[in-house]
Amino acid sequence: MLVPRVFLTSEQIQKRIRDMGQQITKDYPDGPLYLIAILKGAFMFLADLSRSIRTPTRVEFIGISSYGQNKTTSGQVKVTKDLDVSIENHHVLIVEDIVDSGVTLTYLVNLLQQRRPKSLRIATLLDKPDRRMRPVDVTYVGFRIPDEFVVGYGLDYAEDYRNLSDICVLTEETPEAPA
Ligand code: IMP
Ligand code: MG
Repeated sequence: MLVPRVFLTSEQIQKRIRDMGQQITKDYPDGPLYLIAILKGAFMFLADLSRSIRTPTRVEFIGISSYGQNKTTSGQVKVTKDLDVSIENHHVLIVEDIVDSGVTLTYLVNLLQQRRPKSLRIATLLDKPDRRMRPVDVTYVGFRIPDEFVVGYGLDYAEDYRNLSDICVLTEETPEAPA
């Protein structure tokens, strides 16, 4: 049986995101800053991060899939929902839930660079550096975490657990036999 065990509490997450928002506000004195969130995992991080940024921002979504139903990357990436707007000549910050192999972000950065933004940076809530296959330049990192599969706060396992307020590690546990 898979059991979610709390790894980062909602309070820890909120505090860290407030600090990230302050830093981003300092780094981008002038808006509009385009926050581009990767669906679906980044939706909760986007909601909190955007509210902690004081620079005028605009919010856009892009859908990218590389994982399917498994815990490990398929190595194949495709756009499932493209942006509705042009980002040419705008400051763009990609908002991601977690950087793992780096395959998704390497693909997305190449794609968005071709659209000539004024600047392009990445903010991720979580970073699992041990698993990197492609180097990615991430400017804002919430937490560096060990190589564990985590769920909650937007992150899923086969579409479950996204609505948890804490970030949890999924562990395999044998249910106790009834007394
Ligand atoms: P990458 O292309 O391997 O860097 O994969 C990044 C994507 O994989 C993230 O946007 C997540 O959707 C997913 N992912 C990677 N690690 C985890 C995890 O521990 N829990 C849930 N999703 C994960
Ligand atoms: Mg994702």
